[in-house]
Amino acid sequence: MQKTQLKNYIEYLKSQPKGFTYESAEEKLLEIKKSCTNCSHCPLANQGRSKVVFGIGNPSAELMFVGEGPGRDEDKQGIPFVGRAGQLLTKMIEAMGLSRDDVYISNVVKCRPPSNRVPLPDEMDACTQHILWKEIALIQPKIICALGSTAAKAMLGQDIKISKIRGIFQKADCIDIMPTYHPAYLLRNPEAKVSVWEDLKKIMSKIQPQG
Ligand code: URA
Repeated sequence: MQKTQLKNYIEYLKSQPKGFTYESAEEKLLEIKKSCTNCSHCPLANQGRSKVVFGIGNPSAELMFVGEGPGRDEDKQGIPFVGRAGQLLTKMIEAMGLSRDDVYISNVVKCRPPSNRVPLPDEMDACTQHILWKEIALIQPKIICALGSTAAKAMLGQDIKISKIRGIFQKADCIDIMPTYHPAYLLRNPEAKVSVWEDLKKIMSKIQPQG
């Protein structure tokens, strides 16, 4: 995580009572979700979004997936990763022996950028500070799988290159971040699925220790 972002995250953690229970993390996430239904913290609020797409899944998940931002289907339904790339992500999760309900799935930005363009740094900063860092602080996952360049940059710094760091765990405070290719990239480049499967296996070995 970039320094300022990591600082915000740690300060948020410190401001919370110790030992969240499942219910309190769930309640708090719901509170944040409600408070951002009409979010206007960045220009994406006025660029044709239909719905703010909040994260979904298990509030006490060990594994969290973070993508870039909602696409057309997600914007319509208000649920992350439900379009073609989302269906592939669901298959990847199931191949790991898990279900979408076992993990938590979110995005760097919660509103669809026009024509699915890459979110701008200001939009990423606003949305991560108001929502993503709080989701991470509440869920406290053991591992975050950063799906694609935008997610990896949001958590590890703007100058990273996904092709260089994918498959290598990066430590951010007490969380292990595994950068890998985005499922939308896999739809365009199916040969990269082999590499992503290797990355997912590394995650599996940390959350399901053998013997
Ligand atoms: N791509 C993303 O990065 N996130 C979604 O929710 C859907 C597609």
